[in-house]
Amino acid sequence: MDERTSPGQKDFTIGTEGVSLYYGAFRALRDVTLEIQPRSITAIIGPSGCGKSTLLRLFNRMNDLIPGVRVEGKVLVDGASVYDRDTDVVALRKRVGMVFQKPNLFPSSVRDNLVVGPRQHGLKNEAQLSEIVERSLRQVALWDEVKDQLKRPAQSLSVGQQQRLCIARTLTVEPEVILMDESCSALDPESTLRIEELMHDLARTYTILTVTHNMEQAARVSDMSAFLMMDEDRAGTLVEYAPTGEIFSNPKDKRTEAYITGRFG
Ligand SMILES: Nc1ncnc2c1ncn2[C@@H]1O[C@H](COP(=O)(O)OP(=O)(O)OP(=O)(O)O)[C@@H](O)[C@H]1O
Ligand SMILES: [Mg+2]
Repeated sequence: MDERTSPGQKDFTIGTEGVSLYYGAFRALRDVTLEIQPRSITAIIGPSGCGKSTLLRLFNRMNDLIPGVRVEGKVLVDGASVYDRDTDVVALRKRVGMVFQKPNLFPSSVRDNLVVGPRQHGLKNEAQLSEIVERSLRQVALWDEVKDQLKRPAQSLSVGQQQRLCIARTLTVEPEVILMDESCSALDPESTLRIEELMHDLARTYTILTVTHNMEQAARVSDMSAFLMMDEDRAGTLVEYAPTGEIFSNPKDKRTEAYITGRFG
C-alpha cells in the first residue's frame, strides 16, 4: 500500500538524467537532463517534432506501447528509475496520470468513467466509489453541472466538459503527477481558461507537466518552461530550462528567443 495518507503530502520528485530515446534507429531525444519542480506547472515547449510528447511519455512509460523504442539514461520518479526491469508499470501509471489532446472517455456513463480506475485498483465499496466520484468532479468544478446526470453518457457532454471529466478521471486514483499533452488545443477559449484555472488549483497538490504550442498559455500557466529543439540530426535536445518569466522576458539562448518571438516553429 501507499504510505501516503493523502496526495501531495511529501514532495514527489521527477526528472531525467542524460536521457536519449530511439524509435528504431532514429534518435528522437538526445541527452536530456531535467529536474522537475514538485507541485508546480512545467511547460514543455518547442517546434513540432522536437520530441515534446516523447519526453512527456517517458514519465509513465507510455512509449513502451510503441514497438522498437529504446531508452538510454535515467528517468526518475520519486527517486526510482522507472525503466528498471522490476518497475510495476500499472502502479507507475497510477502515480503519473495523463490527459491527452482530445478527450478519450469510455463509451459509458459519467460515473462509470470515474469508477473504472479505483475499481481496477481493487475498490469495491459503492459508497466509497460514490465519494470518489463526487470528490473528483468537485476538483474539476464539474460537480454542479453533472451531479444530477451521473448516468448520462459521458460522450454527450460538451468537449470542454469532457476534457474536465478526463482530468477528473485521472484524479480518481490519486496520482502525484499529471501529464497533459496539448490538452487544451481542441477547446474553445472559455473552456481553455477554465482548464488553466483548474491547473493552477491542482498545482497546489500535484506536479503538472504540460505540452503546449500556445506560447501565451505557457506564459500564463507555467512556473517553469523547458524549451526543446531538434539538433542537426533531428534529435530533440533541451536548449533552455528556466523560470517561465525568464524564458519569456530574458531568454539566455538566442534560439529560445527566436522561438518565443515566433521567428520559427
Ligand atoms: N511511434 C513513433 N515511431 C517513430 N517515430 C516517432 C514515433 N512517434 C514520434 N516519432 C518521431 O519522433 C520525433 C518526436 O516526435 P514527438 O511526437 O515527440 O514530437 P512533438 O514535439 O510532440 O511534436 P508535435 O508538436 O507535432 O506534437 C518526430 O521526429 C517523430 O516523427
Ligand atoms: Mg506532440
